[in-house]
Amino acid sequence: MTDNKFYLTTPLYYTNANIHVGHAYTTVIADALARFKRLQGFEVCFLTGTDEHGQKVEQKAQKEGQEPRAFVDSIVGDIKEIWETLDISYDVFIRTTDAHHMAAVQSIFQRLYDQGDIYKSEYQGHYCVSCEAFWTERQLAAGLCPDCGRTVDWVTEESYFFRLSKYQDRLLKHLEENPSFILPLSRRNEMINNFLKPGLTDLCVSRTTHKWGIPVPFDDKHIIYVWLDALSNYITAIGYGWDEEQFAKFWPADLHLMGKEIVRFHAIIWPIILMALDLPLPKKVYGHGWLLFANDKMSKSKGNVVSPRELVAKYGSDALRYYLLKDIPFGSDGNFTHDLFVNRLNIDLANDLGNLLSRTVAMVERYFAGVLPAPVDVAREEQDGELKALACGARGLVEKEMENLQSGGALGAIMAVVSRANKYIDDNSPWILAKEGKKDRLATVLYNLADTLRIVGVLLLPFMPRTPGRMWAQLGLGPEHEALLTWELAQQPGVLPSGLMVKKGPAIFPRVDLSLTPNEQMAEPEVIRSPLTLEPPIAPVVAYNHFAQLDLRLVEIIAAEKVAKADKLLKLTVSLGSEVRTVVAGIAEHYRPEELVGRQVVIVANLESAKIRGIESQGMVLAASSGELLSLIEPARQGLALGSKVK
Ligand code: ME8
Repeated sequence: MTDNKFYLTTPLYYTNANIHVGHAYTTVIADALARFKRLQGFEVCFLTGTDEHGQKVEQKAQKEGQEPRAFVDSIVGDIKEIWETLDISYDVFIRTTDAHHMAAVQSIFQRLYDQGDIYKSEYQGHYCVSCEAFWTERQLAAGLCPDCGRTVDWVTEESYFFRLSKYQDRLLKHLEENPSFILPLSRRNEMINNFLKPGLTDLCVSRTTHKWGIPVPFDDKHIIYVWLDALSNYITAIGYGWDEEQFAKFWPADLHLMGKEIVRFHAIIWPIILMALDLPLPKKVYGHGWLLFANDKMSKSKGNVVSPRELVAKYGSDALRYYLLKDIPFGSDGNFTHDLFVNRLNIDLANDLGNLLSRTVAMVERYFAGVLPAPVDVAREEQDGELKALACGARGLVEKEMENLQSGGALGAIMAVVSRANKYIDDNSPWILAKEGKKDRLATVLYNLADTLRIVGVLLLPFMPRTPGRMWAQLGLGPEHEALLTWELAQQPGVLPSGLMVKKGPAIFPRVDLSLTPNEQMAEPEVIRSPLTLEPPIAPVVAYNHFAQLDLRLVEIIAAEKVAKADKLLKLTVSLGSEVRTVVAGIAEHYRPEELVGRQVVIVANLESAKIRGIESQGMVLAASSGELLSLIEPARQGLALGSKVK
C-alpha cells in the first residue's frame, strides 16, 4: 500500500430503472474529487458500477417481458452513456454480474460459513423489495418500510444468517475511536444510537423466493442476499480474489460516498463483513443529503425535466456539474429546480465567468491587435497585488474545502477570484486608459486579467472539465502550453508568456432566457456583450444626499396587461409586500405581459405619481438599455423580502 493512492467509490446503482439527477449528484461529486486528487498527484482509483441482482430487478424485468440479463444490459448501457456525457472519469466500472465478482462473492460466503459466521436457520419477518431490506416489527413505521414508506412483504423462509451480533462491540469501539469514520457526525450518532446501542440482530443473507442472483456455493436453492453481494464489490472490483497485488495497493478505501439512506448498510453491515474477513476497514463513509424535487413538480411542458441526459443536451455538462457542485450544500438536503439551476448558470457562468473572458479577449484584440502584451507598468502594486494574491491564494482554499468534501466552498473561492477580476476591470477602466494613451498600464492590466484566467481555468478543472480548455483556446493557449497549465503553477502569478495570440470565440456559457421555451433556448443566438462602449456618457456628479432621496424598492409583478392604444406601454400591478401599486412602464416592445408575472424588479417608489393614458402610475420600473436591447433589472439572488430597500 502506498500513501499516494486514493480509492473512492460511489454506490452501485440499481438497474431496475434509469438513473436521474440524484444519482448524477453522487457521481459528479465523486468525479470532482477523483479529478482533484489526480491533479494533486495521487494515484486514484475511482470506482462506480451497477447493482444488478435481486428481487426488485427480477420483478421489473418480468414486468417488461424481458430476461433479467437482457434487461440489465440495456440499463447499464444507458447509465454508461450518461456518465460519458457528464465526463465521469471512473477508473473501474463494476457490474455485480461480472464473473470475477460473482466468483469472489461465493468464496466470501463460503469462508464466512466455514468459520461459523454464517449459519442456517429460519427467517420470519418483513421484507421491503424496493429497498431490498429486512425489517423487524419494531422497526416498521406504521406498518410500512421506514426507509421508503412502501408496503412490506411478510416472509417465512429457510435462510442463512450472518452473525452481526458477534461483531457489534468491536464496531462500536471502532466508531468511538474513529470519530470521522462516518460523516457527517449526525449520521454517525444515528448509527450508534439507533442501531448499535440497541443491539444488532443477525442478518438474513440468503433468499429462496427469487432466482436472479448469485447462488450460495454449497446450497443452490439459496441466492445470496443482494446487499452482501453488492457491498462486496468494493473489494472484488479492485482485485480481491483475483489480483492480490492490485487489491493490496488500493485497499482500504479512502472514501465510500453515498446518499444518507444507505449509510446503515455501509457503516454497519459492510464493516462487519470486513472484520469477519480480517480486512482493514475503509477510512471514511460519507452519507450526503438528498436532492429534493418536491418544490417544483417535474414536467416536460415546464422544461424542468430532471433526466441528466436532457439537462446536459440543453445546457451542457459543465453547467449541470457546476450547479450540483456549487449550490447543493454537501451533507444536507438541497432543492433541485430548473429555475435555480438556470439562474446559477446565468449569474455565475454566463455573466461572471463568461463576461470576464470575453471582455479580456475583446480588449486584447482591440487594443493590442490580439497579441497578449507583456506587463510593463507595475506602479499600482497594491491593486494588482490584491488580485494576484486572491488568485494565487485560491488553490489553497480549494484544497482545504475539498479535504472536507465541500465543493461549494471550493467553487466559491474560485468565483471570488472571477468577481475580483471583473471589479479589477471596472476599477482600471481599460477603455479610459486607452483613450488617455496609457499603453503601459493598459498592457499590465490586460496581462494580469489573462493570467488570472489561466489560474481560474486550472482550478476549475476538477469541477468543469470542458470549460478550461475552451477558455484557454480563446487566450491562445494550446497543448504546447500544457506545462504552464498545472496545479503546481496555479499559485504562481505571471506564468503566461506574452505574445500569445488571443482569439475571440463563442460565449462559453450563453445566457439562458427563462421566459423562452426549451427549444427557443437552444436556438438562442450567442451574444458577446461588448465592454467597450459607454453611451451615453456618464452624467455630471451628484452629491450622495441627492441619490439618497430616491427610495428604490424591490417589488414583484403580480399582474401585467397592455395599455389600450399604446404600443409601448404595459400596465403593471406590483406588490411591495405591504401594499400593491400600479405602475405604467414603457417596455411593451421588449416583454410580453405573460412573461412578467412573478418576476421581481426594482421601482422608484417615491416618484411623484403621473397620469399616463388615463392610468395613474405610482412609481417607475428600472431597466437598462443598450441600442435595441432593454432589460429589466432583477435581483441576482432570490429570497429577499418584497419591499426591500435598494441602494
Ligand atoms: O441504493 N439525491 O442503489 P440506488 C441524492 N444499489 N442522491 C441520490 C438521490 C437523490 N435524490 N437519488 C439517488 C442503491 N441518489 C444500492 C446501493 S451500494 C453497494 C448498493 C444516489 O440506485 C445516492 O448516492 O437506489 C443514493 O445513495 C444512491 O443514489 C442510491 O442508488
